[in-house]
Amino acid sequence: MRNKLKIGLFGFGVVGQGLYQVLQKSKTVDAEIQAICVKNKKQRALAEDNFVYKSDFLLDNDDLDVIVELIDDADEAYAIVKTALLNGKNVVSGNKKMLAEHLGELIELQKKTGQSLLYDASACGSIPVIRSIEEYYDNDLLSSVTGILNGSSNYILTQIFRDGRSYSESLNEAQDLGFAESNPSFDVDGFDSLFKLIIISLHSFGILVKSDKIINFGISNIMPQDIRYAKEKGLNIKLVAKVWKHGDNKLSMYVLPHLVSRDEYIYNVEDEFNGVVIEGEFYDKQFMFGKGAGALPTGSAVLSDITALSYQYKYEYKKQKYFKPLDYTNDVEIEIYLRYNKLVDFSHFNFENISEKYSSNETNFVVGTIKLSSLLDLKKILPKLDVFLAVI
Ligand SMILES: NC(=O)c1ccc[n+]([C@@H]2O[C@H](COP(=O)([O-])OP(=O)(O)OC[C@H]3O[C@@H](n4cnc5c(N)ncnc54)[C@H](OP(=O)(O)O)[C@@H]3O)[C@@H](O)[C@H]2O)c1
Repeated sequence: MRNKLKIGLFGFGVVGQGLYQVLQKSKTVDAEIQAICVKNKKQRALAEDNFVYKSDFLLDNDDLDVIVELIDDADEAYAIVKTALLNGKNVVSGNKKMLAEHLGELIELQKKTGQSLLYDASACGSIPVIRSIEEYYDNDLLSSVTGILNGSSNYILTQIFRDGRSYSESLNEAQDLGFAESNPSFDVDGFDSLFKLIIISLHSFGILVKSDKIINFGISNIMPQDIRYAKEKGLNIKLVAKVWKHGDNKLSMYVLPHLVSRDEYIYNVEDEFNGVVIEGEFYDKQFMFGKGAGALPTGSAVLSDITALSYQYKYEYKKQKYFKPLDYTNDVEIEIYLRYNKLVDFSHFNFENISEKYSSNETNFVVGTIKLSSLLDLKKILPKLDVFLAVI
């Protein structure tokens, strides 16, 4: 039995406005935005009397049954979501940073209050990856989830590779089109993908790993030499997030650029699209593809969560509840390409084994194996070094 949902919306930026538009067009959802809380007074697409500026106006309003949180401030988002659950409201959120940092506590709060917190829009925009993993892949043994989870950096890489444009030109365009976060480092240095990976891994493997335990390195150091290297070998460069099971009971994760060959599903994932490859013990590989960013695709994912609330849907966190816990480890080797300009930068890297070395006046690179733990030790300084690396 579906009830009409009265929504209090936080944020009227890219996604908030996207939600407003898809809700206007949707013929089947019985839901209505009753008030919108934003931060600043300014000219907007809707009349001023639709907006409020104090969060209490929504959070303490007994007429509202759903709070939709779509703001760009993770700390404020956490306060809003927590208060909303405690005040007996169901919540939809798109804020992956807030979720990755606070999901442990927010799961407990859902149990305590009986309310539901849904966040499919937080990972991969319009691709229903979380609910699919939670429901469709609930009883299967997943072995890995690998994907392009950030639309903005994928847009930039596509512009560089396919259209021969510069990094800065492509980044500006991604921001103008609303794909990029307010702070571009969030996208291009792999933090956005990292937070999404943490959320996806919780639903896939039942383990919530803290962000400082996972290496993330993005695309902001990419240079023409790296692009030339990839093109000469017929490869593409993609920013990839990966979680995989190995050994007896071990799990590892990273967000790193990958050199991708034509026969990989993600090779053709271009522009602001995302692509997720789900691998399981019994069905081999499955591939989910769709728009991972932007007003309407993300707005439609939020709307899907709102609809799910109308039939009292809750995530059950099945893998956490019913499966044997896995051990998270960075004690695992990966093979990388590392381009460097100065030996002092190269000296930070503890390779287990080097299979290829190249030096010229223009560029230097090595190909070799290195432990994730060794890369994690460099997590803070890596973006400041004049190096680029990619998993082979
Ligand atoms: N953009 C995407 O494609 C995308 C995709 C998936 C998920 N997301 C997530 O969705 C969320 C929103 O992203 P966005 O791109 O829509 O951001 P945005 O365009 O920067 O808009 C942010 C909105 O939040 C409002 N806001 C900020 N702090 C607030 C506060 N304390 N109280 C009330 N309102 C506040 C701002 O108010 P003012 O209008 O007054 O400035 C603005 O309306 C983020 O968590 C983002 O990670 C975005």
